[in-house]
Order: sequence, then C-alpha cells, then structure tokens
Amino acid sequence: MRLTRALSGALIVVTLTSCSPSGASEHGLTRSGTAGAAGIGDADFPNDGNGGYDVGHYTLALGYDPATRLLAGTATIDATATENLSSFNLDLRGFTVSSVTVGGRPAKFTRSGDEMTVTADLPKGSTFRAAVTYQGEPKPVRDSSNLGTYGFVPTSDGSFVTSEPNGAKTWFPGNDHPADKATYEFRLTVPDGVTAIANGELAGEPTSKGGKTTFVWRETHPMVSYLATMTTGKFLVKTGDSGGGIPVYAAVDPRYQNQLDRLYEVSARITDYWSSVFGPYPFKSTGGIVDDFASGYALENQTKPIYGGFEPDEGIISHELAHQWFGDSVSISRWKDLWLNEGFATYAEWLWSEHQGQATAQQTFDRHYANTTDPMWNYPPGVAQKNDLFNNSVYYRGAMALHALRVRVGDDAFFKIIRRWATEHRYGNATTEQFISLAEQVSGRKLGDLFDQWLFEKGRPATLG
Ligand code: ARG
Ligand code: ZN
Repeated sequence: MRLTRALSGALIVVTLTSCSPSGASEHGLTRSGTAGAAGIGDADFPNDGNGGYDVGHYTLALGYDPATRLLAGTATIDATATENLSSFNLDLRGFTVSSVTVGGRPAKFTRSGDEMTVTADLPKGSTFRAAVTYQGEPKPVRDSSNLGTYGFVPTSDGSFVTSEPNGAKTWFPGNDHPADKATYEFRLTVPDGVTAIANGELAGEPTSKGGKTTFVWRETHPMVSYLATMTTGKFLVKTGDSGGGIPVYAAVDPRYQNQLDRLYEVSARITDYWSSVFGPYPFKSTGGIVDDFASGYALENQTKPIYGGFEPDEGIISHELAHQWFGDSVSISRWKDLWLNEGFATYAEWLWSEHQGQATAQQTFDRHYANTTDPMWNYPPGVAQKNDLFNNSVYYRGAMALHALRVRVGDDAFFKIIRRWATEHRYGNATTEQFISLAEQVSGRKLGDLFDQWLFEKGRPATLG
C-alpha cells in the first residue's frame, strides 16, 4: 500500500511493507509515521544531516588496516525519534553495508547516493538503538568548492581524519550536521605498532591480541559529527598536565619529532590562558596532533586539534584551541552562522598576539580595514557562501565584527559577553540572533546597526561601527 502525506509542505511517499485494514502494524502501533526527512533543515545544505530523530550517543567499533585501507566494523547509534517515523535516514558515503538492526531486530534499508534509508516504526519520543555493520575503503570528499580533501583520508601509515563540514559520513553512518550533537565511544582496532587517536580520553591502556591493538576513547561531552576523529598511524605521544590542571595529549608523526615538546607546551599554555579569558575549559582534556598528511589546514577536532603536515605556530594553535569554546562547546546549528566559529577563533588569534606584546587587536583590525579592495567587503560573513563556505570574510570580517563590538561597548562589557556566550550555550547550539541579543542585553545598547553593517550588508562599513 502506498500512502501520501504532507510533511512541511512537501509530499512524501511512504511505502509500507504490510498493512492491516485498521492501520495497525504487527507490533500493535498505529502506522501514523512519516518518512524522516533526508536533511536536517539547513537551508544552505538541504541534504546534510537528517530529520525526525536526535542522536544521543555513537559507539564506533571500527578496525582499520593501513596496508589494505579497509575500514570495517559496527556503528551503534542511540537516538530519540522527534516525530512519528516509518523510516529514518543516515548519512553514509560508500562502503558495503552488511546489516542494519533497529532495537536488535534486522531492519530493511535502501541506499541512494550518500543517504541510507532504514525502515522502522518509531513513535515520537521513543528511544531506539540502530546498529550498522559495514566495511570498505573510505573515500574522502574531494570537493570542488575550496574545501580540499576532507573526511577519512588514508595516509601512508594510517589515516588523517578531519571532517568539517560534512565528512563524518565518509567513515561512519549518522546524522552528519552540527545541529545534532552526541557523545561518542570509539573502539578502534589497528595493527600492533599503530596508534589510534580519537576525541576525549583513553579508557584504560590499549589491549593487544592476535597482532592487533584496540584503543578505547570516550568523548563524554556532546560533540558535532565533523569534529569526530580516528587518526591512526605511527605517532610519538606526550601526556601530562597543562599546569592549570587539564590533562594534555600531544602526538606527532615521527617526521615532526622535534615538534612534540613544543606542541605539548604551547597547547598547554594556551589552553590555560584561554580558560582565564573565556571561562573554564569545557572538556576533560586538551592537546593536539601533527600528522604528515599535507592537508594545508588545521581542524579544531574536539579535545585534539589536528595540524595537517606543517609545524603549527602559536597563532594557529591559539585559533584551534579557542575553537574548543567557540565551535566545539558552543556549536552552530546552521552553516550561515559559521562566523560564530571562525570569526571568534580568528579574533582569539588577535587577542593572543596582543597578549604576547605583539600587534594589538586594534592594529590587526586597522591592517585589514585599510585594504579597501579586499573581496571580503562584498561577502558579508553572516550569509553562507555555499561554494566558498570558509571564505576570508567569515574569518577576518567576522573577527572585525567582534572588534567593532568591543570598541562600541568597551572591554568590560565585551569580555562579559564573550564569557556569557561560552557559559550560556556550553555543550549546545546557538545562532547569530542569539549572540546579538546577548550582546544587547549585557551592554544595554541597541546594536542592530553595527551587526547589520559588519555581518549582513555588502560593502565596507564606513566606520568601526
Ligand atoms: N575550521 C577549520 C579552521 O578554521 C577549517 C576547516 C576547513 N575545512 C576544509 N574541508 N577545508 O581551522
Ligand atoms: Zn577555525
């Protein structure tokens, strides 16, 4: 039987495998469910993420062999239905899926492109566990629109895993959009001698059996999918305490052996300093990874930023660690708000420079402002540029917006706004509108004109704000 139902103005065709006259299913539940949407509702990226459920926890039990480049295992997803569902989607790119279960029972599934549709009757509010067993050679995304190669990237000795914006689907099935945060457990099995690094903290010593070693990592704070990592290979590791009481895990590819002590020391010092500026560090550990894959960028993977094939200087380390507060703990729920991540992390670089007695934030602002022909003046940072998501405007004009705010409201109110932003939305998601209203509330001023000029309108603002 085929039913058509209206959902958010769209006609959805639901195919039921069986149907009794009363509409009751074999489990006695009324079949009132509709198909969960194939996207989570981000207007700029309509297929990213999925609708109809919210993931609470992922357990990723995965093995990777750098020699064969095969990734295999089971992803277990604990989620809650947010609508009455007859099916839901998971994002997954490539791989052979051998089985899917929902609530322990085999479930039917179909695949189309990067979308997998799982048939299951799930009443609104019910919690469910889906398990997907799969294997294959991961295929990272090679993006045409300025994003480079991202997702699970096989390297000569392992893998370099940086998934922003939507590359989590290149290594595990899930709800691949920052609006759906979840906690994670990683059970990663690699050949003996290979180190497997994920987010959060190690749950005990790695165990070895039959030539393979399993590393169990737990990220107990909610995390967006693009920050999850499974970085594997030969690594030199240094662990300890930041000085301010935060455990530190630093790892470098042997090629960057001489960087290990510095990566550890600078990451520790900057984490402690940001804790004094932005408020308590949101996670249980900090650190960093330098791998030998030349991605050309860094990513703020939660608890462990990764630097792709270069020696990170203090500026970029200060940027990626500021993201732990802005982006990782306080996350965006739509890509058009990306300046809340990148503008803040870039402004943090300016603050670090100022703190080091180098250029002040005002001097850095002035330098960018003086460049009257910069293309970013035609690219307001508060609007997503789908084909150039990580454009300079999001970084530099976004940072300039914060500096304009600082000059308008004064240092006391400015740093109070920043700290309250980190506190009030800790571990959650937030929007530009919420930031503007917090800034107005804390400063007691109307700031619409300032944010309009700096975030939303084309053209170089005539004044600081
Ligand atoms: N958030 C990263 C940073 O600012 C940039 C990630 C860019 N992503 C990409 N696929 N190139 O450090
Ligand atoms: Zn950044």
